[in-house]
Amino acid sequence: MVLQTTNGVAMKDILHQLEERRETARLGGGQRRIDAQHGRGKLTARERVDLLLDEGSFEEFDMFVTHRCTDFGMDQEKPAGDGVVTGWGTINGRLVYVFSQDFTVLGGSVSETHAKKICKIMDMAVQNGAPVIGINDSGGARIQEGVDSLAGYGEVFQRNIMASGVVPQVSVIMGPCAGGAVYSPAMTDFIFMVKDSSYMFVTGPDVVKTVTNEQVTAEELGGAGTHTKKSSVADAAFENDVEALAEVRRLVDFLPSNNREKPPVRPFFDDPDRLETSLDTLVPENPNTPYDMKELILKLGDEGDFYEIQEEFAKNIITGFIRLEGRTVGVVANQPMVLAGCLDIDSSRKAARFVRFCDAFEIPLLTLIDVPGFLPGTSQEYGGVIKHGAKLLYAYGEATVPMVTVITRKAYGGAYVVMSSKHLQADFNYAWPTAEIAVMGAKGATEIIHRGDLGDAEKTAKHTADYEERFANPFVAAERGFIDEVIMPRTTRKRIARAFASLRNKQANIPWKKHDNIPL
Ligand code: HXC
Repeated sequence: MVLQTTNGVAMKDILHQLEERRETARLGGGQRRIDAQHGRGKLTARERVDLLLDEGSFEEFDMFVTHRCTDFGMDQEKPAGDGVVTGWGTINGRLVYVFSQDFTVLGGSVSETHAKKICKIMDMAVQNGAPVIGINDSGGARIQEGVDSLAGYGEVFQRNIMASGVVPQVSVIMGPCAGGAVYSPAMTDFIFMVKDSSYMFVTGPDVVKTVTNEQVTAEELGGAGTHTKKSSVADAAFENDVEALAEVRRLVDFLPSNNREKPPVRPFFDDPDRLETSLDTLVPENPNTPYDMKELILKLGDEGDFYEIQEEFAKNIITGFIRLEGRTVGVVANQPMVLAGCLDIDSSRKAARFVRFCDAFEIPLLTLIDVPGFLPGTSQEYGGVIKHGAKLLYAYGEATVPMVTVITRKAYGGAYVVMSSKHLQADFNYAWPTAEIAVMGAKGATEIIHRGDLGDAEKTAKHTADYEERFANPFVAAERGFIDEVIMPRTTRKRIARAFASLRNKQANIPWKKHDNIPL
């Protein structure tokens, strides 16, 4: 017997029609354009979603949505899905929402309906408390639609802003992203780019040439190298689509799903009490000899796993995630290998943004300190190091997450206060015996206090030695309770793991305000 619907069409034909419509939608802009996409070393929008999410977990929304434009013959061309694949799925079992622009359909350009599809999944992500991952590969505003397209962008921007600090937002740039379109990723928490196949700029090379007479390629102007090394717009650059998507999965594993949840707890196989005797000799005898702070980070975290953010920018400060007892901890650490670990404009901005992300999403903060102060110079002062340095100070001072600080060597002057000091409400402030907590280094201090003796080398050496003896240690600060305990370097993992464990139920209150006024 053949099942019939009320209008006499065989049920199997109806099911077949659905499959056919789905097949057509899945082909996007057709095989020729898919081949062209592959020819550029890029995956298609759907291939990307499949790689990003757990196998078979993707549930698509709005596959049959079409645009409503009738100008410029657009009524003759109504591709199903309208250039963006949207829906939800899981990453290692945890819910995420995703949109993936399909460059094979009208160049992934954003129409009113394309934007509506993105807004729908953003609204659901906020409602259901799950991250939004946006894969960008688009020629920008749908030129045939004009202001309807701009309105669509505006709706997406507004949602980026409302979702900020509520659910993590990650942008992956896998093709063009130009003009005002850049501002949606710019307002998300993390931007990943793919080397050689993605770019972001507000105005492209042609306009730049016309206006400023500068000759620059798209890659030089807004490629992954530019944005990870020079502008700091992007947080990481990867070799290809596959690597970038695998790294998004790794990042999401560190993050809570929303601001009401704690970060996920992963199984761990690394003893929290593990002693690292090699750390006893990490700090060189000569206080001016650099050492690699990353070594400390890798030795502290579970299984040596460290997810670095902005690795290529402002290398004098390191930011990223580790786990302690399977729980995510955000790390901020001065890097003595670069600019002696000084704070400057770039490192302050980089670290401040990271601290604020962690605080917004209840990720505890570990700060590792070896900082000789702020970088001097006209370029720093003219560039506004006062305001930018204040960002980091402010970010630490307003943070209410558990904060544990370890001073390994120098903690001088204002930089000592800025970097998660006791005075900014850090919970645990540890110092290694090699710590030097002072207003400045002994040489500089002597030159000021004993200026009159500067011509006398012997006296100056004595003054310097005296100052060193008095202040080149952690004990003056420890006597005042600014340092809670001077710890053996080898025990650091155990000490900080116990400290964070004791802070798991921390509750800190800040006075009511509409919002703060961080020095932007
Ligand atoms: C409609 C577009 C489009 C767009 C590309 N296409 N961009 N259709 N609106 N914005 C279509 C093309 O017509 C083509 O269709 C297909 O997508 C692929 O484009 P190609 O040009 O063949 O690809 P390629 O050579 O790789 O060049 C990609 C490109 C270029 C650099 C992105 O297409 C381009 O310059 N597009 C226009 C970019 C632009 O000016 N956008 C508006 C910016 S203003 P067929 O049918 O041939 O496959 C903006 C404001 C946002 O975005 C404001 C937010 C507030």
